[in-house]
Amino acid sequence: MKRILTGDRPTLNSFHLGNYIGSLKNRVKLQEEYETYILIADLHALTTHFDKAEALKENIKGLMLGYLSVGLDPKKVTFVLQSKLPETEELAYIISLLTQRAVLERQPALKEKLDQGSEDTLGLYYYPVLMAADILLPKANLVPVGKDQKAHVEFTRDIAIKFNNLYPSASSGQVVFPIPEPLIGEVPTLPGTDGQSKMGKSLNNAIFLTDSKEEVEKKVMGMYTDPTRIRATDPGHVEGNPVFIYLDAFGTEGDKAQVTSYKEQYTKGQVGDIEVKKYLAQVLNNFLEPIRKKRAEYEGQPELVEKILKEGTQKARFEAQKTLAEVKKAMKLDYFM
Ligand code: TRP
Repeated sequence: MKRILTGDRPTLNSFHLGNYIGSLKNRVKLQEEYETYILIADLHALTTHFDKAEALKENIKGLMLGYLSVGLDPKKVTFVLQSKLPETEELAYIISLLTQRAVLERQPALKEKLDQGSEDTLGLYYYPVLMAADILLPKANLVPVGKDQKAHVEFTRDIAIKFNNLYPSASSGQVVFPIPEPLIGEVPTLPGTDGQSKMGKSLNNAIFLTDSKEEVEKKVMGMYTDPTRIRATDPGHVEGNPVFIYLDAFGTEGDKAQVTSYKEQYTKGQVGDIEVKKYLAQVLNNFLEPIRKKRAEYEGQPELVEKILKEGTQKARFEAQKTLAEVKKAMKLDYFM
């Protein structure tokens, strides 16, 4: 079975509907077809949050609850805590030996972080090196990431190719690393409740998977719809209207007929925003209810959640040690000890 590795920096503690549509939903599907590793990249989070380890700890718990609540199954998914995998740092050093400094200087993500006010540290430059180690240690074949991370996966490919050429595996005649492919989601980003193109926690326009029924109702009733429509009898626009985008994204098969009918009525000015919004709140709460239930189950068993993360990390560590031994052997660095 091919192996997938993907990950998140624990810089936040809860997921919103945009995260669900953009990545979690896809991961739930992929776990059926691939051996899936999900990495909580706390070492990467430290590049911008080096004085906030305590907050990271809480975020890690939140991410785990988020993963489990949407149906990522610990029997199918290996959850890994990056900082408890020292092999990452060891392989990262070896990767750094093969990395042109100029390549790290040119990474687009670096400029962006510096523009956002991050301190200009070596850790920040090193980001792609560490990420390449994450991907290569479990010999991942496929790396589902957002567009902004594509360059990092391409860097990883270059390193894997370079390593394989420089150090053909001594034993098997095979190369050490499979060349990982990025898997870039093609789903359009979910707009925020305020109609901005992107839902984001810091944008204050997000509906969270952890929001209560009442919070969801309140946020939906306050949603941006069609600014050109003053009265319910004015013909409205469905295209680009977040209310309808959410209905399309979260409505079930059983909602389809009603959604189609609302779209027609809306265009003709035969239904008010309030009615459609009430319907949307129901659709979202139907979607969120099983997620809330599952989350509550896991929330009641914090030792179990911790155990899932520990066992996953142990398994990943075993794989990582195997890979690292192969790496050193291929480099003829296995002398003396
Ligand atoms: N850099 C990724 C992000 O910010 C997180 C990450 C770290 C990751 N290591 C990874 C993603 C390895 C995929 C594979 O989203």
